[in-house]
Amino acid sequence: MRFDYEKTAVVTGAAKGIGREICLALARDGWKLGIVDIDLDAAEETRGLIEKAGGTGEVFRCDVANPEEVAACAEHFFAAWGKVGLLVNNAGIMVAGCVEDVSVEDWRRIVDVNLMGVIYGCRAYVPGMKRQGGGHIVNVASMAGMITLFEQAPYNTTKAAIIGLSETLRMELSPHNIRVTVACPLCLNTNLLETARINSDFIAEFYRTSFTQARMSAAAIAGCILRAVEKNKFYEMPQPFAKLLWVNKRLTPAQFLDIFSLLNRRGLGKPVAMWLARHGLA
Ligand SMILES: NC(=O)c1ccc[n+]([C@@H]2O[C@H](COP(=O)([O-])OP(=O)(O)OC[C@H]3O[C@@H](n4cnc5c(N)ncnc54)[C@H](O)[C@@H]3O)[C@@H](O)[C@H]2O)c1
Repeated sequence: MRFDYEKTAVVTGAAKGIGREICLALARDGWKLGIVDIDLDAAEETRGLIEKAGGTGEVFRCDVANPEEVAACAEHFFAAWGKVGLLVNNAGIMVAGCVEDVSVEDWRRIVDVNLMGVIYGCRAYVPGMKRQGGGHIVNVASMAGMITLFEQAPYNTTKAAIIGLSETLRMELSPHNIRVTVACPLCLNTNLLETARINSDFIAEFYRTSFTQARMSAAAIAGCILRAVEKNKFYEMPQPFAKLLWVNKRLTPAQFLDIFSLLNRRGLGKPVAMWLARHGLA
């Protein structure tokens, strides 16, 4: 893979799912990898796979919701490698349900992990990237931050905020030769639902169906994200249907919301969403 900086990457949430696949793709290209996660057993498995694939990996336990741990992690990898070329803020969790049914504690947890975790990551790595003369940051958001589905405000809200943060950083960090990409996948089959806190039978069924019917694997999504890094592309929406939804939202911003509001009033919103899930389009 062509990359203009040092081939060293710190990937959060690297023990499983998309994060692990990003590490493996980079390992095949001989990168040094920081495997950052709270699940140390799974992180060790990722490390073993990285070494088999030709890269080198080091596991670092860090809860991205804890700013001191994130700062210590950044300090560790800058000290160990001299330069961190790529930061992938990928760790995330799922909390869903109607706005009033989700506990304040669950609201806080998803904001802390999904949003503050990305903010802490940017705060911790940007100064070192500025000093070293550049780098690339990938923030893993979701199509849920662009095309919002009802009954999952906590997840949508954090992912929309990551997109806003990334758009700002793309401009702000450009004079420092630091590139920014925001990844917005639709559903794919990973371990995300294992730790999810979903307070809506509809959303639970919607995700179970979407995950099993997903048309792209985590490895394919990781490949798309890394191609976006190579091309210095800002928005990466790996699934073709995601691009179609996004174009529709851009052309007629309120139409999507009005259609689903009308469908919900007629009791049809959930059946239509489930139809999309069953056809691998969610
Ligand atoms: N799976 C999907 O359908 C989908 C779609 C769009 C976006 N995403 C996003 O992709 C990212 C990766 O998710 P995934 O689907 O690979 O899920 P996953 O559950 O397979 O992997 C997430 C990883 O993050 C780690 N993690 C969770 N909380 C953490 C914390 N506080 N600190 C450090 N690590 C933590 C987990 O231990 C796990 O290894 C998430 O941000 C998710 O929101 C997923």
